[in-house]
Amino acid sequence: IKRIAVLTSGGDSPGMNAAIRSVVRTCAYHDLECIGVYRGYEGLIEGDFKPMDARSVKGIINKGGTILKSARSKEFRTVEGRQKAYKKLVEAGIDGLVVIGGDGSFTGAMILNDEFDFPVMGIPGTIDNDIVGTTHTLGFDTALNTVVDAIDKIRDTASSHNRLFFIEVMGRDVGHIALNAGIAGGAEEILIPEEDLGLDRLVESLRRSRKSGKTSSIVIVAEGDKIGKNIFELKDFVDDNMEGYDVRVSVLGHMQRGGSPSCFDRVLASRMGVKAVESLLEGKSNYMVGLQNTKMELTPFDNAIKGKTKINLELLRVSDIMST
Ligand code: F6P
Repeated sequence: IKRIAVLTSGGDSPGMNAAIRSVVRTCAYHDLECIGVYRGYEGLIEGDFKPMDARSVKGIINKGGTILKSARSKEFRTVEGRQKAYKKLVEAGIDGLVVIGGDGSFTGAMILNDEFDFPVMGIPGTIDNDIVGTTHTLGFDTALNTVVDAIDKIRDTASSHNRLFFIEVMGRDVGHIALNAGIAGGAEEILIPEEDLGLDRLVESLRRSRKSGKTSSIVIVAEGDKIGKNIFELKDFVDDNMEGYDVRVSVLGHMQRGGSPSCFDRVLASRMGVKAVESLLEGKSNYMVGLQNTKMELTPFDNAIKGKTKINLELLRVSDIMST
């Protein structure tokens, strides 16, 4: 392997720049050329490439977003699209590809490997933490800190006005952001897709806290929650069914994907970039790098994509006890 390309794909996450920096510098360390691909698989199809040396990634370890830009490519889902991309890779003399992204991005990389036997390696970059084979995806820790900061601020105004706030957080189909940030933010209740507690339980819990003397409350709602009502319907439901609550809704949205990466995400990104490049150098392909028991490990793409992350039941219990 002499020339490695790197791209970021799918929803961005804090730490992607730190991972690009790590891939580029690990290549430089091993005397490999590194090529940056702009706009994910879109740029791969169009040959939107730029050589990157060690100095080209200065001053980005602390920056949110991705300097290579990101996209969700429809064309890459077609055989024709992937053929175009493969042609561009071969024309540019690239013999290995590092994909930084989530499960959709890994599916693309896996198919590229299956169809053209092209060496690929994945770095899990998503705030959702929904990928098997790593305890932490890149950006999850930063997003948690962002959400906790937002909850703290909302709590200030909730408490001044004696209000109940429903706060919606991201996470797609999983509740990792909601559960962790909810505990850290001292939420009354946390609604996650993995555990449908039901409306009765929610109402009962809110009534109980009212009785126990609480004057304001925070309920965290994961965007993929399955209680059967969206966050605005939840507000209406509480308005209609419970006396004396002044209820507000706050949807945190895409601010959760931005911002300077935390120390944890910067270190994780640096480790993942080294592992990804060195694994390609060892002749490995079709794996994702991940953090397991403090070590960098490889997981076959297939397992990473098809597996379902489990919610930590201990955290659920802690959350229950804390809202007493
Ligand atoms: O996967 C990351 C994520 O931010 C999810 O939490 C969210 O559901 C989705 O992406 C939002 O996607 P978009 O940026 O296309 O609105």
